[in-house]
Amino acid sequence: MCYAIPGRIEAIEGNRVIVDYFGEKKEAINELEGLKIGDYIYAQGGYVIEKVPSDYALSVLDLWKESFFNLQKLDMSLSASSISKDGVDRRLISILDRLIYGGTVNRQDIAYILEVSDEKSLDYIYKTANFLRQKHLKNSCCVHGIIEITNHCSCGCAYCGISSMNQGLKRYRMSVEEAVKIATDAIDRYGFKALVLQSGEPADKDEFIEYCEAIIQGIRAHKPVFLCISFGEIGLRGLERLYKAGARGMLMRFETSNEGLYSRLHPNKTLASRLEHIRYATELGYLVFTGALIGLPGQTLDDIVEDIFLVRELNAEMYSFGPFIPHRASTLSDANLPDSDMVLKVLAALRFVDYENARILVTTAFETLDPEARKKGLLAGANSVMLNITPLEYRRLYDIYPDRAWREAGIEEQIDKTIALLQSLGRAPTDLGVR
Ligand code: 5AD
Repeated sequence: MCYAIPGRIEAIEGNRVIVDYFGEKKEAINELEGLKIGDYIYAQGGYVIEKVPSDYALSVLDLWKESFFNLQKLDMSLSASSISKDGVDRRLISILDRLIYGGTVNRQDIAYILEVSDEKSLDYIYKTANFLRQKHLKNSCCVHGIIEITNHCSCGCAYCGISSMNQGLKRYRMSVEEAVKIATDAIDRYGFKALVLQSGEPADKDEFIEYCEAIIQGIRAHKPVFLCISFGEIGLRGLERLYKAGARGMLMRFETSNEGLYSRLHPNKTLASRLEHIRYATELGYLVFTGALIGLPGQTLDDIVEDIFLVRELNAEMYSFGPFIPHRASTLSDANLPDSDMVLKVLAALRFVDYENARILVTTAFETLDPEARKKGLLAGANSVMLNITPLEYRRLYDIYPDRAWREAGIEEQIDKTIALLQSLGRAPTDLGVR
């Protein structure tokens, strides 16, 4: 975890460094040569991305100091306030008390939490998750930008609106120059320091990898930013090539940990191959963002419990869990929507299984399900959001599920609303530069 303000190198152990931000220590991976204790750097997505001159760093820190502490104070007061046990289920209290005192939860505990439905107990779950987030990770909130470079897809995933089955959808693919320009504008004009490049899964993998190499190299030649790829199963060789080109994050959900359900929803695909990609990406040095869909037809509560423990076992850097939203052009168009509290309980449960480390995303799908999702999620253990910076004419065609939140919102509007919300909650946006 890292702030989009310069940090000072406190310690160096191999390729890991400890970075100090106003007394708070964060760990990051370093690939820059010649870095010394006392140097100032920007770190993003867990990686050192750039060394900055000391006088410049000190002037930025001076500007930030006051608001940094004010935000932290606000977050602390919001997260510690009024956690009342009145009327709360007793077994729930004993499970969550264990976590507050540094203990752990098992599968039965999580299954129990996911079944809670009375208001007071739900409130207790969310507030405890928020308390644990604040206690262990303070107020930093990742704000990544996502660019959907093409909506072509060779997969037939049953739930997805851009699957190859949706023959009525107009398909697009940005040129390399277009994609690089959108990314570099996001960096230069809006201060983004961490970007996700996303697409459907390519049919011709070699040709696609070449295209992505050109985009990644083009962006990296412009400015050092943290780049995360999200292109589905591009093959192990594809992962190697894009790591070499400069990608350092890989977002790929396993969607469900239930093998049978996975096979039913993903024609000609296996969970084993998906997990092999995720594990290989970690081995190569990618920071992995992964997770599952909540509320798939045929998914049980026990499946969701397994999803929560699998994401932990995969050593994910960021957890991405969102509701399944039926798409009219898919075979699951008649399915029910999950309820908002189930999604919030999953976010809180993720915090409970990994309270010291988890970066938990509030997904756009959740915001589509519930207009208050971002605020509710951030107050229930989450600490990360993504802004969609795909140009509108393409974004409308990236139709994975209907009526996506922020579908028509320009970048500035999204940034302004995000910063305003984060400030109202005492959170510091970590991946947007100081503006
Ligand atoms: N509802 C919610 N999320 C969806 N995704 C695909 N289709 C849907 C849907 N109908 C998610 C998948 C995929 C990510 C890019 O989008 O989890 O990994």
